[in-house]
Parts: sequence; structure tokens; C-alpha cells
Amino acid sequence: MACRICSGRLHRFADFGRQPISDAFVLPGDTGEEFSFDLAVGVCEDCTMVQLLNEVPRERMFHDGYPYLSSGSAVMREHFRSLADRLLATELAGPDPFVVELGCNDGTMLATIAAAGVRHLGVDPSGGVADLAAARGVRVRKDFFEAAVAADILAFEGPADVVYAANTLCHIPYLDSIMKGVATLLRPGGVFVFEDPYLGDILERASFDQIYDEHFYLFSATSVRETARRHGFELVDVERLPVHGGEVRYTLAARGARTPSPAVAELLAAEEAAALADPRTLRAFADRVAGIRDDLVDLLTGLRARGATVHGYGATAKSATVLNYCGIGPDLVPHICDSTPAKQGRLAPGSRIPVRGPEAFASPYPDYALLFAWNHAEEIMAKETAFRDAGGTWILYVPDVHLVRG
Ligand code: SAH
Ligand code: TYD
Ligand code: ZN
Repeated sequence: MACRICSGRLHRFADFGRQPISDAFVLPGDTGEEFSFDLAVGVCEDCTMVQLLNEVPRERMFHDGYPYLSSGSAVMREHFRSLADRLLATELAGPDPFVVELGCNDGTMLATIAAAGVRHLGVDPSGGVADLAAARGVRVRKDFFEAAVAADILAFEGPADVVYAANTLCHIPYLDSIMKGVATLLRPGGVFVFEDPYLGDILERASFDQIYDEHFYLFSATSVRETARRHGFELVDVERLPVHGGEVRYTLAARGARTPSPAVAELLAAEEAAALADPRTLRAFADRVAGIRDDLVDLLTGLRARGATVHGYGATAKSATVLNYCGIGPDLVPHICDSTPAKQGRLAPGSRIPVRGPEAFASPYPDYALLFAWNHAEEIMAKETAFRDAGGTWILYVPDVHLVRG
């Protein structure tokens, strides 16, 4: 297996077995076999990029029925509003600015840009969510962004001051084409800003559920800098973000165009000190994850034996890895509640656990709730205080299996 970035040799360090498409929620009457693939992860011995060993065809994941909505969390809505405000005040403060967002989804970020009357274009291949963006006044192009699409946008709209992507770049195996496209599309002096789950946080918290079909890459500053360098970009800023269980926002600019901030050298040094890309570090992570799986299955089996009820909370894409790797089905977790309309009334992929709306959580409350949306724990626990008041207990599995009394 060769690295998708540099063709270097990949060292496999973790394997989660056969997995379904994480966001392919199944209709209850659908008895057909689900698509599945081997979810295994490796690290490149040359450029240090951590990546999946198998690629799922993009059209199988991102299509008109893609259910994920960026607007599903109040914390994330605020996160994207403040990012948009910051871009408006800085990179987009010149005359007639233009910003392109890759993976704009339902337009949560670009809605603020559109409301400010600033020229923008969202690019997203998932038609259903792109329609929601258009309905709120965001200009959107339904396409997979790649080099040819970038050239087309440049021809029709002119160069961009900013290309932005959140939780999208790590979804795209063909980064080569993306980097070429962004290099074409940016004006001289423009910036490419993107934020994705951070390898450092994933290793520290053992958050193995960040590994699933859509998360093809687990970025670090070291691997991003090398990828950028190969395409004439320089990593000029990094910012750690608390959202989604720990992310980094990377800023790239044409080589020599901007002076890198001290944060870049600091994060690179911290990654070196933590030996993030060392196969031994990564194998230790895989060992910890196997322990979490055993602890979680033991806990759930024990609770079932005692007659306690356990429901899932948040039918996240991440939960597909947990459920299918641990072999958890409706016998241990009879349903999961989730606020996303397109997931409700369907079955979670692979595990076939029914998904219900959030109102089902209270009728009646289970004894325990397994929090698959642990990255939104604060927001969810604040909203569900009545569960705690009714004597309910949360189950979390990162950084280890533990109980939280609301
Ligand atoms: N940026 C949003 C959505 C992340 S979900 C947020 O952070 O909440 C990832 C999105 O990327 C999906 O909406 C998916 O349709 C889109 N996507 C996948 N491949 C893409 C590509 N090649 N170009 C643009 N968008 C893509
Ligand atoms: P998220 O963790 O953002 O992403 P992913 O699917 O990529 O792992 O998904 C959060 C899920 O939890 C999403 O399906 C919406 C749901 N959710 C609720 O049901 N209630 C809530 O209060 C919040 C914040 C999310
Ligand atoms: Zn490589």
C-alpha cells in the first residue's frame, strides 16, 4: 500500500474490521446487503501522513441523501458565525472580496457571509444539504471540488481571497487535485484555511471513533506542512480548536507570501516531542482502543444482565466505528435518538439499531445513555438535565469507559 500524498511506504497500525458507510442510514424495509469495506489505518514512513488503507468511492458517501447537517449543534453554529465574522474583518476586508467554501453543507458558515453581502460560493456534492444552503440565500455549486472545478470557478468568478473548508479536507483522498485547484483559484496573497480533527487530540483521548470512511486523513501540522510544501504552499498559521473533540485550523499561503506565526514552529516541535508519527506511539494507541472496546462491551453486557436500559444518544458517523468494531447491536442498545430528520426512522448502518427523534429519549428515560455525540457533551448534557434529575447516567468511552451523572 502506498501513501496517497507521497507514494511512501505505509505502516499499518490499527484495524477496525469490516465497516459500513458511516452516514448510510438504512430504511427499515431494506433487506439488501450493505456496502462494507476494511477500515484499517496506516502512517506514511516518509511524509508522516496518517491515512486509511482503503478508499470508499466518493459517490457512495456524498450524494443527494447525505444526512449530516452542520447546523445540528448550537455550539457549531456559533463557531462558524465567529469564524465568518473574523474572515469578514480580516482576509475579506478589502475591495470586492470573494470566498469559496469547500463542503459548505447546509450553509451554516456562508449564511453569515451572504448576510454581509460579500461575494461567495459554496461547493458541495451532496444535493440535499446544498439545497438547504441555497434556501438560506447561499450561492452553491453542487460538485465535488477538484482541480477542474477550480479552473471553472476561476474562469467564471475570478480569483478568491480565501478558500475555506471545515471537516471536509480530511474527507478527500485526492488531495493532490484539491491542492492544485486551490493554488489555481487563490489570488496571489490569498489564503487556504481549513480545520479538521487533530491527530494529537485523537491519540491523547484515544478517540478512535474519529476513524471512519469519511475521515480518510488524520492530519497533524507535520503532515499538513509536508503536503502543502509539495504544492508550493507554506503552513503559516495553526490554531487549536476545542470543537469536535479537538481540531486544528491550518492556514496555508503561497511559499514566501507570509511570515509563519510562532504557533507553527511550536506545534511542530510539540509533535516531534510527542513522537506523534512514530509507529510505536500509534501501536500504543491501537492497544488502548482494544481495551476500550473490551471495557465497553463488558459494561453493556453487565447492565443488560442486571435489567438496566441503555439507549444511544447521537447517531453520529463516529458511532458506526464504535458499534461495528465492538459488535454492539439492538440487543445491547435498542435505539439511538438523534435530532437529524434524515436519520430518524432509519437504522444505523451495520449495527441496524433504530434511530428515533430526540423526543423519544424522555419516553421513558433509560437508566443509562451511551453518548455517541461525546464531542457535544456539554451542549447535550445542558439540554438534558431532566435525564439526570430522573436518575439517569451517561456512559462515555473516551478517553476511557466511564460514567457521568449528568
Ligand atoms: N463544513 C461542514 C460540513 C462537513 S461534512 C461542517 O464542518 O459542518 C463534509 C462535507 O463535505 C459534506 O457536506 C460533503 O458533501 C462535502 N464534500 C465531500 N467531498 C467534497 C469535495 N470534493 N468537494 C466539496 N465538498 C465535499
Ligand atoms: P457530529 O458529532 O457533529 O458528527 P459526526 O456525525 O461526523 O460524527 O454529529 C452529532 C450528531 O448528534 C448529529 O447526528 C446530530 C446529533 N445531535 C443531537 O441529536 N442532539 C444534539 O443536541 C446535538 C448537538 C447533536
Ligand atoms: Zn507519504
